Amino acid sequence: MNSRRAIITSVGHYVPPDIFDNHYFEEFLDTNDEWIRERTGIVERRFAKDGATSDLAVPAVQTCLERRGISAEEIDCIIVATVTPDMFFPSTACVIQRKIGATNAWGFDLSGACSGFLFALATGAQFIESGMHRKVLVVGADKMSSILNFSDRNTCILFGDGAGAVLLEASEEEGYGLLDFDLHIDGGGEPYLHMRGGGSLNPPTADTVENKMHYVFQDGRSVFKVAVIGMAEVAENIMKKNNLAAEDVRWLVPHQANLRIIDATARRMGLSMDRVMVNINKYGNTTAGTLPICLSEWWEKGELEKGDNVILATFGAGYTWGSGWLRWAY
Ligand code: UT7
Repeated sequence: MNSRRAIITSVGHYVPPDIFDNHYFEEFLDTNDEWIRERTGIVERRFAKDGATSDLAVPAVQTCLERRGISAEEIDCIIVATVTPDMFFPSTACVIQRKIGATNAWGFDLSGACSGFLFALATGAQFIESGMHRKVLVVGADKMSSILNFSDRNTCILFGDGAGAVLLEASEEEGYGLLDFDLHIDGGGEPYLHMRGGGSLNPPTADTVENKMHYVFQDGRSVFKVAVIGMAEVAENIMKKNNLAAEDVRWLVPHQANLRIIDATARRMGLSMDRVMVNINKYGNTTAGTLPICLSEWWEKGELEKGDNVILATFGAGYTWGSGWLRWAY
């Protein structure tokens, strides 16, 4: 077995300063604070007033590098999980590379929606474990406000803008880092959660704009039914596969789409909520941002310690879903 493991050696996150609480939506939509809190767990979210996804990612990455005390030139590869790239091309990885001055890096974007960060983490780990690279930056960033229909109460209240980043490096120390993952896709989920306009299927025209095809569409009830089972199942499976009992798990880091889905996942794993990272109340669903923002916030609070078993679990558009087992390394 390969003894060279990919460990996370630094974390960083950034959310824009402007806070929009649930009452904000009451002014122009038939919705209310009570409905949003009870059905989702969201109290407020951040929307960036200007700039692009890379402008959220760059401060997250800079914090991550500063905490590790390394310069951008040392980065070998940048992987950016996002569904709101600055442009179709060049990739947001290229934009970030230029903005931070990572002159020795290559990189690419990865489209995995709400599971994007986990998919990118698993991908980045392969470059480390193969010995190909020494330092890989994995970014999860989305400016969801750029694709939200603010006249659709079913979707616009759910999302927020934000970014997180982690640095992957190699460790020879036994038993730390990304020890396992279990990733899935099912293209049958497309009718229920998508943005159909703007790509090669429906290139932008006055009609696609008129028909609001450049916005997130979600059939929430249908997605909920599969997400609540899918995320819980995949989290439980990775525990079983690795003989982890509930008391062995320090943290569940769930995708932050709905507090009821998070609750169900924790229950299935046998975890009490004091061992679950939850910040959906503050940020809503930041899509690819949710997992790395949690990791960075909890590390900042001093609540992530070397040796902690951490289970990551996600579910999102595609469908995409998965879990990962990290043993925290620093
Ligand atoms: O992150 C990617 C994966 N996404 C998810 O995991 C999201 C999964 N889905 C969900 O989290 C939930 O389905 C939602 C939070 C989106 C919706 O909650 P729900 O309990 O499934 O509500 P619903 O869609 O079944 O709607 C219930 C009622 C409907 O009214 P009727 O048909 O019963 O009269 C909706 O029209 O609530 C209505 N409704 C609202 N009412 C006030 C929907 N949105 C709102 C709103 N405010 N914002």
